[in-house]
Amino acid sequence: MNVAVPTPTAAMRPLIDRFGRQVTYLRLSVTDRCDLRCVYCMKERPEFLPKSDLLTLEELEQVATAFIRRGVTKVRITGGEPLVRRDVVTLIERLGAQIGDGLNELCLTTNATQMARFADRIATAGVRRINVSLDTLDPDVFSAVTRGGQLSQTLDGIGAAKAAGIKVKINAVALKGLNDQHLPELIQWAHGEGHDVTLIEVMPVGEVGIDRADQFVSLLDIRDQLEQCWTLTDLPDSTGGPARYVRVEETGGRLGFITPLTSNFCAGCNRVRLTCTGQLFMCLGQDDRLDLRRILREDGPDALDAALDQAMAVKPEKHEFDVAEGAGAAVSRNMARTGG
Ligand code: 5AD
Ligand code: SF4
Repeated sequence: MNVAVPTPTAAMRPLIDRFGRQVTYLRLSVTDRCDLRCVYCMKERPEFLPKSDLLTLEELEQVATAFIRRGVTKVRITGGEPLVRRDVVTLIERLGAQIGDGLNELCLTTNATQMARFADRIATAGVRRINVSLDTLDPDVFSAVTRGGQLSQTLDGIGAAKAAGIKVKINAVALKGLNDQHLPELIQWAHGEGHDVTLIEVMPVGEVGIDRADQFVSLLDIRDQLEQCWTLTDLPDSTGGPARYVRVEETGGRLGFITPLTSNFCAGCNRVRLTCTGQLFMCLGQDDRLDLRRILREDGPDALDAALDQAMAVKPEKHEFDVAEGAGAAVSRNMARTGG
């Protein structure tokens, strides 16, 4: 790959939006495809984008590099499932080579089904931490939530990542009637393995063929339920992200809560998301976007720098999610397209 990089400016101009928030975190979706079909994420038969719509791996690297030149210190590779994209490890290796040169951290969100094959290369590339989506430890519930996935494959992937020295955080979406009664088991297991856990409220992004109100359970209720058996001690915010963390005194592990619906976390937002087709979304819950693929293809990588200034001028103040019955999706694209 021969990647042209944007011309360096004399002084690095950080990316600061109209509300004074600095963008230091880029989430890069490399594919909308996935080998699973989680009920909160996709329809049973999703229409995937034609491969010709995707940014090439070279273009993804050019965009990420333009962001790193403007002060982005953390890049997360997401999807869909990033590891189903052919040669994605090459991109991970090339971005990993920028760690220490502007980039501090390269991480990955994955369902871990393919992780056993790639863990060593990914670790060697410089990835120190991954987030793994795992909502349950019950094989039947896992199969129901993912519409056909095999729990053992994900557990093997998690084991391979751990063996390669990668720190794993488990992300679990709380789902009414599916896993909401069994989250303590999941947390207990994860903490025993040395993995942090983050619980996530279902967000109404994309149509999934199921009413969101039937899936939604408030994490305030889940927290009450956990506090019946455990002591949860609030921890100071460390990530700058939307999660609020506690220590579970009985397990010694960390537990995060991402509550987009019951509490708004937008004031400290430090991130933007690039879809696999090169659309830059300034907010997960809003439609404002910039077509970086067009800019890159028509005007070349040097035009990206000015485009990033434009992006800062339109980053919205906050999302407006609503899970009221029949409210529909806040935005039509699903998480796999935007980058979970
Ligand atoms: N609401 C909340 N979380 C979601 N994810 C995907 N779709 C949704 C949704 N609608 C999460 C998954 C995974 C990551 C890719 O995004 O849990 O961890
Ligand atoms: Fe795939 Fe993740 Fe979406 Fe599940 S949540 S279908 S694993 S992209």
